[in-house]
Amino acid sequence: MKGVLELGEKYGFYIVFDEAQTANGRVGAWSVAHLHGLKPDMMTLTKGLRGGFPIGATLAKAGIKGLSYPEEHTTFGGNPVPYVAALVNLYAIEKLNLVERARVMGDYVLKRLNDMKSRFDLIGDVRECGLYLGLDLVKNKETKELATDKAEEVVKLAFEKGALYALDMPDIIGDEVSMRNVIMIRPPLVIKKEELDEALNILEEALIEVSEEYGYKYSKT
Ligand SMILES: Cc1ncc(COP(=O)(O)O)c(C=O)c1O
Repeated sequence: MKGVLELGEKYGFYIVFDEAQTANGRVGAWSVAHLHGLKPDMMTLTKGLRGGFPIGATLAKAGIKGLSYPEEHTTFGGNPVPYVAALVNLYAIEKLNLVERARVMGDYVLKRLNDMKSRFDLIGDVRECGLYLGLDLVKNKETKELATDKAEEVVKLAFEKGALYALDMPDIIGDEVSMRNVIMIRPPLVIKKEELDEALNILEEALIEVSEEYGYKYSKT
């Protein structure tokens, strides 16, 4: 990323970090840019900014050409209520120390997921950055062939058992919808450790059932 930013500077193009999903604490830092000590030319913020209110923001370095001074462009744009909600949300993140909390809880989840990875043939990799984690399901640990259908089954089973997980956005190629094989783990930043444990226990139960059904090796301890 650092190299791309340097190229932008050298050749005069701008780098935008889309931090819609990652900013405001989720990755155990205020943003991925903060996490890596980088300064993109622009950054977009939405989900973690708003606590449910419809608001998004585009931040840009001062002096970027082609951007107008902030104006009202739409009928409902510039509504002060979401602005206040976003400010209160940021205040709460800071006061409740949720950025650090995401880092600490993320480390805890990572430990549990890595332990599962060592016990389940179905798990090819664990992705993590604070409370923004993913479990990469594979048919074969060596070839890393994607186990998309198994990931779908694990998510469905976990839902039936009371824990909500999701797969990443599907690819749509022609008329074919192809789900992805990475189970996303992005709990609320205020989640309690007991709740995390319960959700991870359910995930493990679902992994056991799918492993048994399709003959993938696993061990319980
Ligand atoms: C990575 C990413 N960028 C941008 C967006 C768009 O965000 P919004 O719908 O809040 O404008 C989303 C929404 O899902 C997203 O996940």
